[in-house]
This record gives sequence, C-alpha cells and structure tokens, in this order.
Amino acid sequence: MRVGVLTGGGDCPGLNAVIRAAVRKGIQEYGFEFIGFRDGWRGPLQGDTIPLDTQAVRGILPRGGTILGTSRTNPFKDDEVGVRSGAERIKDNLSGLGVDTLIVIGGEDTLGVAAKLLQEGVSVIGVPKTIDNDLSATDYTFGFDTAVNIAMEAIDRLHTTAESHHRALIVEVMGRHAGWIALHAGIAGGANVILIPEKPFSIKEVCAYVEHRFKTRYAPIVVVAEGAHPTDAEGPMSDWRRDSFGHARLAGVGPMLADEIEKQTGKEARCAVLGHIQRGGTPTAFDRVLATRFGLHAIEAVKDGATGAMVALRGTDIVRLPLTEALREPKLVPIERYTEAEIFFG
Ligand code: F6P
Repeated sequence: MRVGVLTGGGDCPGLNAVIRAAVRKGIQEYGFEFIGFRDGWRGPLQGDTIPLDTQAVRGILPRGGTILGTSRTNPFKDDEVGVRSGAERIKDNLSGLGVDTLIVIGGEDTLGVAAKLLQEGVSVIGVPKTIDNDLSATDYTFGFDTAVNIAMEAIDRLHTTAESHHRALIVEVMGRHAGWIALHAGIAGGANVILIPEKPFSIKEVCAYVEHRFKTRYAPIVVVAEGAHPTDAEGPMSDWRRDSFGHARLAGVGPMLADEIEKQTGKEARCAVLGHIQRGGTPTAFDRVLATRFGLHAIEAVKDGATGAMVALRGTDIVRLPLTEALREPKLVPIERYTEAEIFFG
C-alpha cells in the first residue's frame, strides 16, 4: 500500500502532528509506504513530491506549519474545454507514482477538491482542519485551541497597556464566517466587547458603549473577528484580492473601528491585528492530541479501505463520516451561545 499525504489551505498548528502519527502508525503497524505531496493540490497536479518516512517525521510533533508546505491551489479552477483537466493530471500523476490512497488534510476547499476527485475514482481519506473551527462535521478542529490561546495571551497583555494609557484597544482576530476564535479568546481574556460575523454590529452602539465604559471603569478591550460586519458601514471589509477558490482577503475591520471610536468618542483607540501570529508556532497539548488521534484514525481508514471517509471529533470520540460532510454549511456560533457570554456591551 502506497499512501500519499498532502496539506492544503491555510496552515495551522497540528498539521505536522497528523502527518507524524499517520506515517509512524502506517509504517510500524501495517508496513505502508508514504509519499508526501508538496504545497497542497499543487503537489499532485505537478507531481511534486518529497520522501515521507520515519526519519522525515522525526521531531515534528511540536513544530507549527507543515513540513509538506501548503497552498490554496484549486486544480479545477482553470479547466478549459479540450485541455487536459486538473483531475486528469492528478490521476495520471498518482497512478504514475503508484499511489493507492491519498490522505488529504484540509478545510472545506481542500476537502471539496478531494470530494470531486473521489467522484472521478480517486481514493481519498479526509482529515478536517481549520483554525476557524467552523466545519460542522467535527466538534473541534486542531489549530483552533492554539489560536485561541495566542489571542487570549495577546488580550491579557493589551489590558495592562490599555489601562496605563487610558486607551481603547481593539484586537482583530481571524474568523472569516464564524466568530469562534473571537468568542473563546474574548471570554478567556475578559474582553468587554466581542464582535463576530454571525451578529452584525452597529459602530454607533460600540462607540456609545466605549464612551460609557471610559466614564465608569477602565479602558475597554474590543475583540473583533476579521469577518464581522457593521450595519452602519460597508462590510465585511476586504481588499480586491481573491484566492483561487474565490475568497476575498479580509482586512481592515479592526483599524476602521479604532478610527471610528476616536472620531465618535474623542478617546484614543488603537488596534492590534493578530493575523498570522494566530496560525504560527507550536500547537497546544489539546491540538497535538487531537491531531495525533486524527492521524491514527486516518490510517485505520486507509487500512479498512474506507475510501471517501473523513475522520471527525464527536464528543470525545473520533468517528468516520462521508467526506461530503465537510462541505455542509459552516458551523456558526449559535446566537444563544453568544448572548450567554453576557459580554456584548455587558
Ligand atoms: O480559513 C482560515 C483562515 O485563517 C481565515 O481565518 C482567514 O480569513 C484566512 O484563513 C486567511 O488566509 P491566508 O492567510 O491564507 O490568506
């Protein structure tokens, strides 16, 4: 059995732990051979590979990023009539390299490509990944806990400088469609306002709350997810760039809010955009354990010939689901979960 492995989409802490667990178990227990594909779907599309053996995965458990590299390459994007399609090229490369099954570690876009290839007869096993934690198929994705802890630590630090300078501090965190990182980091860090994509907010109301907070207590901390959108301005804020799956590059809601707070309240406001700091560095223990379990269960799925399956966390169990489960509507923060935090203008 020759198993290909790729990581696609945005990187997140824990990817290497999945790769390590899968490779070690596959080699030690079942005598599988592995081959790594570089940079997401670009690897199988161009036949770009790296060796993946026990030596290659030694010492990578605590390492952030992915030893395989990643990209947002969409092999179906530039298909033209009469030209060899991305799927055909991938199939040729996989069969040329003798790959029996491909373990695909990725989010909705990467697993969406895997689901299409499955229909074309490619044997794939999915492992879900996104720091946003918005895949409905699984209770948690690895990388999320690390991102929350990084954002929480940033909020802790911003409290003291905000208080010293009597400034409002806005913290912009990741979260395209879902506000899980903002919600969890905001609660854990004791933020005063949390703004998430699921609940459009009024800049005017945020400014009024900030003003009130300054009068009565200390300098406020506002956590805003990058995908949050104001009702009284343009949003969600993004620039003109699109990735090959058509997603806009989100940017700007935090700085915009800081400007508006200064304009509307006359108080000083600054913004810290955490960006990719949330995606870099070593995974937390929770993410290492979850990622390792996903890797081990993915290998079991390969051994069982469960092509078209993906692994997922349900409660405390790792389960096997059809890959298409990864393509369901994103898992958003339920509004009751948000309001129970009693933090929005609280
Ligand atoms: O999907 C995960 C995510 O980190 C989003 O929160 C964010 O909008 C996006 O990826 C950014 O992607 P990139 O850094 O690859 O441009």
